[in-house]
Amino acid sequence: MPTSHPSGWAHADGALRGPSWLREPSDPNELVAPLWSQTATKTDGVLSVGGVALPELVREHGSPAYVLDEADFRARARAFRDAFSSYDVYYAGKAFLCTTVVRWLAEEGLSLDVCSGGELLVAERAGFPMERIGFHGNNKSLRELERAVELGVGRIIVDSFDEIERLTAVARERGRTTGVMIRVTAGVEAHTHEYIATAHEDQKFGFSIASGDALRAVRVVHEAPELQLLGLHSHIGSQIFDTSGFEVAARRVLALHATVGEEIGVEMPEMDLGGGFGIAYTTQDDPSDPAQLATEMTKIVEHECRALGIAEPRLSIEPGRAIVGPAMCTVYDVGTVKQVALDGGVVRTYVSVDGGMSDNIRTALYDADYSATLASRASASPPVLSRIVGKHCEAGDIVVKDEFLPGDVRPGDLLAVPGTGAYCRSMASNYNHALRPPVIGVRDGKTFTVLRRETEADLLASDVGVS
Ligand code: LLP
Repeated sequence: MPTSHPSGWAHADGALRGPSWLREPSDPNELVAPLWSQTATKTDGVLSVGGVALPELVREHGSPAYVLDEADFRARARAFRDAFSSYDVYYAGKAFLCTTVVRWLAEEGLSLDVCSGGELLVAERAGFPMERIGFHGNNKSLRELERAVELGVGRIIVDSFDEIERLTAVARERGRTTGVMIRVTAGVEAHTHEYIATAHEDQKFGFSIASGDALRAVRVVHEAPELQLLGLHSHIGSQIFDTSGFEVAARRVLALHATVGEEIGVEMPEMDLGGGFGIAYTTQDDPSDPAQLATEMTKIVEHECRALGIAEPRLSIEPGRAIVGPAMCTVYDVGTVKQVALDGGVVRTYVSVDGGMSDNIRTALYDADYSATLASRASASPPVLSRIVGKHCEAGDIVVKDEFLPGDVRPGDLLAVPGTGAYCRSMASNYNHALRPPVIGVRDGKTFTVLRRETEADLLASDVGVS
């Protein structure tokens, strides 16, 4: 095998073409700006975020590491708050949550969507105003409901008749009333991965509008004196680019809202249209900005309310990914580079990094696409289509399926993957007893630890057999 070609083997001989959307860059050092947080820059091949050069960050904090751009996070939170100024904006904590982020949200005037007792605990520890929290979940435990009621969570989004019964009893026993929204399924087929689409009928979330369950749930909540009926809630799925899904859902949910007015005689004050706004992971994605989304969604709701002859409820949305996704990247150290011969005489370049599916499961789980760049030096080598893989004991442990990297990428280089803020740290695992990486904040040339790296002691902490 010829291995001495300066551009790397794959370049020397019949290279792979990769997916059709992936263009071969003339200069693989160049940063594709829309994929990165707003403060990301490259100087002489060295990537900086928040004024911090990533090689320095790695010297100080080790690798792999998630790098969180505070200015970018705050700017995206503010952009949603300002664009949707007449709405309440609930940040979806499932995308990424820790006390630091909760404090930023409080300061920026956002509300917070939590979907478990654990997320609620983080919000409580950070001192977040409980009346600005919405609590989701299709199977909240009794303990979770008790805690939410005791803490005075602003809205509990109920998801089943069993839960309505349980919540009514919990509130009654405590002599409290609690705000309730009703999660409905609008029967929309969102164009996204099956596992992250949530408004079609055949899945676990919500009350179906079509079957009449949603209207029945409204009636039950309305008749319970302990429950204050706030409105309907619809979330159609995630990583959605096309507002036509929201349009169909909004139309069906508003129609139900109007029916509730006619048949039950209640004008519900609120309505939540959920989250799911897509971001750019690669050059194939072209997301709308918050201002465009706000204009389109407001137009849809105004139009429908006029047509139905009803007053507009106060609206809320729940973006998670679109706020935190682009605000983070992951930096990895390259450990090995391997040329693997495939059928037809082509080779694939496998670049192995010191993390993988334990810090980013999305590629394996949703077939997600990511991109990457060499972060520690400039290279004069032409681009070679490469696959970035992790260090786990699993062939599907792929971080970036296809990316053009300089052909001389070698052990000791740093690679950075943008767009890892949402659902990477929050879905990270200890698979193969990996230590979950830290989240390092960057701002004005300084780093600060948001979540520390796990230690061997953390790893053994729950193993009661350790002596
Ligand atoms: N609201 C509700 C009720 C949700 O269920 C979700 C996401 C959101 C808001 C926020 O969606 P976002 O704006 O972040 O797309 N792990 C998957 C995504 C699962 C989303 C679950 N619910 C992923 O990595 O793509």
